[in-house]
Amino acid sequence: MALHIIDHPLVQHKISLLRDKNTGTKEFRELVSEIAMFICYEATRDLPLKEIELETPIAVAKTKIISGRKLAFVTILRAGLGMVDGVTKLVPAAKIGHIGLFRDPETKESVQYYVKLPDDIAERDAIIVDPMLATGNSASAAISELKKLGVRSIKFMCIICSPEGVEAVQAAHPDVDIYAGVMDEGLNEDKYIIPGVGDAGDRIFGTK
Ligand code: URA
Repeated sequence: MALHIIDHPLVQHKISLLRDKNTGTKEFRELVSEIAMFICYEATRDLPLKEIELETPIAVAKTKIISGRKLAFVTILRAGLGMVDGVTKLVPAAKIGHIGLFRDPETKESVQYYVKLPDDIAERDAIIVDPMLATGNSASAAISELKKLGVRSIKFMCIICSPEGVEAVQAAHPDVDIYAGVMDEGLNEDKYIIPGVGDAGDRIFGTK
């Protein structure tokens, strides 16, 4: 399925601020949350609507509200936590799931250490959030976990993706749309995105 790059000027401007190594933890965290909100706006563009009637102070209005299936955001720990605040500002009723994955420093493969998802996850549209789509290993593992539990509608949202990550996810999960703010050049030998932002988790939580 498709890769959607959200090339809105506000998103591009805020991503540039994120990249700056002099951007401190507080501002970095705020930017991740704001960018997540903008990307979520596009990722939810196809939510179904239904018409209702209500009374305004002037007249009866035929107007639209979101209908149909409910949403769940699934955050990949730990950097994905930085996006939760932004996406839940847009969809406050969404439930939140967590999948803990770390990158084995030797193999660079994803190792799952935690999963906690809404009980009714299989009945929800799931949007996975993680700021960096690098090798695609964590994204693919998270998508596989949701599919195993019967989730049929899955999207993946990130702020920066690499060509390698997009290719890997699209090869493993061709049915999953990817929403990103920008596609960078590629990965370095440590599998960090170039030029990227460095370690997004460390920058969100101030751990380095
Ligand atoms: N995770 C990060 O935080 N940064 C990268 O560049 C790649 C993966």
